[in-house]
Amino acid sequence: MASSGTENSTSDVGTEPDTWLALRCRVSEAKKDLLVSFLFDLGSRGLTEDHPGLDVGDDGPLVSGDPKDWSPDAPPSPDGHVVLTGWFLGSNDPEQLVADTGARMEELLIEGAPTIERVVPTDWNAAWKKDYTAFRLSPRLWIVPTWEDAPASAGNAEVLRIDPGMAFGTGTHFTTAACMRLLDVRLAAHPGQTVLDVGTGTGLLALGGLLLGADRAVGVDTSPPAVDAAIENAAQNNLADRFDVLLGGVDAAPAGRYPIVMANLLAPLLIKLAAQLAGRVAPGGAVIASGLLTRQEQAVTDAFSAVGLVVTDALRNHDWSALVLEPA
Ligand SMILES: C[S@@+](CC[C@H](N)C(=O)[O-])C[C@H]1O[C@@H](n2cnc3c(N)ncnc32)[C@H](O)[C@@H]1O
Repeated sequence: MASSGTENSTSDVGTEPDTWLALRCRVSEAKKDLLVSFLFDLGSRGLTEDHPGLDVGDDGPLVSGDPKDWSPDAPPSPDGHVVLTGWFLGSNDPEQLVADTGARMEELLIEGAPTIERVVPTDWNAAWKKDYTAFRLSPRLWIVPTWEDAPASAGNAEVLRIDPGMAFGTGTHFTTAACMRLLDVRLAAHPGQTVLDVGTGTGLLALGGLLLGADRAVGVDTSPPAVDAAIENAAQNNLADRFDVLLGGVDAAPAGRYPIVMANLLAPLLIKLAAQLAGRVAPGGAVIASGLLTRQEQAVTDAFSAVGLVVTDALRNHDWSALVLEPA
């Protein structure tokens, strides 16, 4: 069984728990993002995805450099299904998790009863690290885990080394990949800009932006493990002198406006922060926002249009959307 799509979450756990609970569901590939959203709402701290029978090649799942032709998702599994595992803190009640998920099986198109297993954290770390391997994230950028060498197929592309630690931002989730893709296009046209990355996680978007032509980057995150991971990843890539990482929300960023504001946050947070994010965009600049399900797009665009930003570009895949919003 091959795996892909491993992603850590927005953990606020300062130390690792003694055990994790692995809640597994089999679901149709095309419908899995609804289940992803549900598992995060239920309290999942991370997700892994197993594709029965799928052999992901050396180049990873990315197939094309053309923005409109490009998909950060793994190719479909031969049988059209994936096994999605939600990772919950061991302090949760396993029976309750199974019951809550079981109650939504029909709506979420889960096939077969969900199962749950208690796992020690070291096993979990080893398991997901094994499946996190080098891949091309955007036309000009490869992601390479810190414990691997860059593959020859990376050629002349920029290489960003990432160790996600306990933070969200491996690049394997559509929302991160779509943000990076939109950022790549924007920086190719206008290099030398400063990027503000709100909810920086591992720092992947800000650091990728620096490799692709941004002059400086500022990352803010309310999660201490994310701040630690971003600082460590900046050092790993010799980018610390151009990347300021701060603990906190939008207000933690140095005063002023930025040509590019990244915000890969969930829809309710995007809506809540719309005015604050709009207030940080320089004239002629843009917010690149994701973390929203496509069915939440209208509510998010309404919130931004109320503060003077309109959608000028978008990438969508299955149920997720990433938007470029610019002053009207
Ligand atoms: C979905 S992750 C995005 C991580 C990374 N930027 C990426 O695109 O993969 C969202 C991040 O936002 C952080 N976060 C949540 N609420 C926040 C807030 N109000 N202000 C700043 N960061 C926040 C979380 O801790 C998490 O690291």
